[in-house]
Amino acid sequence: MDPRDRVVIITGASSGIGAATARCFAAAGARLVLAARSQEALTQVAADLPQALAVPTDVSDPEACMRLVERAVATYGQVDILINNAGIGLTGPVTRLARADLERVLAVDLLGPIWLTQAVVPIMRAGGRGQIINVSSVLAVQPLPFLGGYAAAKAALEQISNALRIELHGSGIAVTVVRPGTTRTDFNQRRLGRGRERRRIAPPGVPPEVVARTILRAARTEPRLAYVSWSDRLALWIGRLFPGLIDAILARAFVWEEQAYH
Ligand SMILES: NC(=O)c1ccc[n+]([C@@H]2O[C@H](COP(=O)([O-])OP(=O)(O)OC[C@H]3O[C@@H](n4cnc5c(N)ncnc54)[C@H](OP(=O)(O)O)[C@@H]3O)[C@@H](O)[C@H]2O)c1
Repeated sequence: MDPRDRVVIITGASSGIGAATARCFAAAGARLVLAARSQEALTQVAADLPQALAVPTDVSDPEACMRLVERAVATYGQVDILINNAGIGLTGPVTRLARADLERVLAVDLLGPIWLTQAVVPIMRAGGRGQIINVSSVLAVQPLPFLGGYAAAKAALEQISNALRIELHGSGIAVTVVRPGTTRTDFNQRRLGRGRERRRIAPPGVPPEVVARTILRAARTEPRLAYVSWSDRLALWIGRLFPGLIDAILARAFVWEEQAYH
């Protein structure tokens, strides 16, 4: 749908892709409800935009998610688009993932979007239209070694999205997965877990504004799945064609990192 005058909730809007998406939707005329934990950063993003409400929220808390949606409805009377963008990363070998880290990543990257979906769908159903956009990752399809916990959370988010899309068939509510590749944000500095940076083979990545424009386009065209770049799409396609070869290449490429965990 055209985001002009639509009410859009964006989680993880205090930095990176979420902040860029807030600016992009504001330029398109949307009325915004911005959520993240850091009140100061969030308020700063909202202050620079014409119609933006900052609501500090921890998306891992189901009651906080409900309060966020109630606040959006109390302020603007409706919710048209929910963008589940908040996320945290996790590195480390699967055999050594700490329970607390894994539970946190699942709570933020998977459960948060579910709580918010449960809160907005009744409102969207009543209005007869809406869209839920879930920000996933190319790693949901092609995991890299030492990113299995994070990849699992995003893969689960994609399957929840796919099931939800079928459940909402005919309701006027679209469900879209946006699948970015490496993006230049502070995401890696904030990740949980252990291990060194993966800079040796990680591509430089796109600026967050490029992902934000993809999300805006996804709001306008309501596809099932949106890629940010053709190279992301191509890389996943090659991985699907030659899975054994890709496993072998990745195992060799990451052998140095494996040693860093011991
Ligand atoms: N950067 C990449 O290479 C890349 C690639 C593919 C997909 N993605 C996905 O893109 C999304 C945005 O990431 P980014 O790159 O923009 O990283 P980022 O700059 O670290 O942004 C993450 C955002 O999530 C918020 N957040 C974290 N935990 C939260 C919680 N419990 N409740 C509410 N908000 C929370 C953070 O704000 P607070 O800390 O203030 O809460 C921040 O605004 C994530 O879902 C990530 O998985 C990123």
